[in-house]
Amino acid sequence: MDSRPIGIFDSGVGGLTVVKEVMHSLVGESVVYFGDTARVPYGSKSKQTVTKFSAQIIRFLLTQDVKAIIIACNTVSSNSIEELRDMFPNIPIVEVVGPGVHMALHTTKTGVIGVVGTQATIASNKYPELLLAQDAALKVYGKACPLFVPLVEDGWADHDVAYQVVKEYLKPLLEKNIDSLILGCTHYPMLTHTIKEIVGTQVELINPAEEAAKQMGDILSKNNMSSNSINPEYKFYVSDSEEQFKKMAQIFLNKPIEHIATVPIEEY
Ligand code: DGL
Repeated sequence: MDSRPIGIFDSGVGGLTVVKEVMHSLVGESVVYFGDTARVPYGSKSKQTVTKFSAQIIRFLLTQDVKAIIIACNTVSSNSIEELRDMFPNIPIVEVVGPGVHMALHTTKTGVIGVVGTQATIASNKYPELLLAQDAALKVYGKACPLFVPLVEDGWADHDVAYQVVKEYLKPLLEKNIDSLILGCTHYPMLTHTIKEIVGTQVELINPAEEAAKQMGDILSKNNMSSNSINPEYKFYVSDSEEQFKKMAQIFLNKPIEHIATVPIEEY
């Protein structure tokens, strides 16, 4: 048994959708979460910048004695995973794109799949590339939805404005008759309610966080690194705006956030 925490990070509150899955399926594991609230969004930034920010965060998480890391961000996963694995070869890293691809392959019946994500994730072409490598007959349609992240970060996920924005962005994908939609940004599961209202029951929503948590569980148990603590700890760190993050996290995780602090992340 290894009671050290799992490190999880994202540009902001989005990675909490992964924390939620970890709390649910890896109940004995402690978590140290970092949300880069000072520098969100990542989705409109270059690969070099996203890689640099992520490396700083991983260096910070290593100071917290984490035993493994989940990159709870599709923008980082689709643009920087190879570089980050090269930079940090001694720690197990789980990302979210592979898990999303795995789930989509099992979910689709018609083979027509939609992917929504940030500009950087869609531009990387990572989802279509990995999906088509598994099955060249699939039809994969991507759509960048840059307004989703600010709507979620500001707590507007269930607002009428969110409904209009989601409807507009998803229109071209619905016209292609997709039967599965990969939520290729960890912020987007927070819009599930609104997205479901628009896509209806014909389209299956895929949240890669579920499979990412499962993959982390498999890696830990294979390496005898699991923890079955009855008192797991959850610590949260941000680079700015503790209060807004805390408010959102408490609502989303449905539990009080006892430990939150600000970290000068650019010093790492
Ligand atoms: N939640 C992140 C993702 O999965 C990043 C969103 C952003 O910062 O633009 O892509």
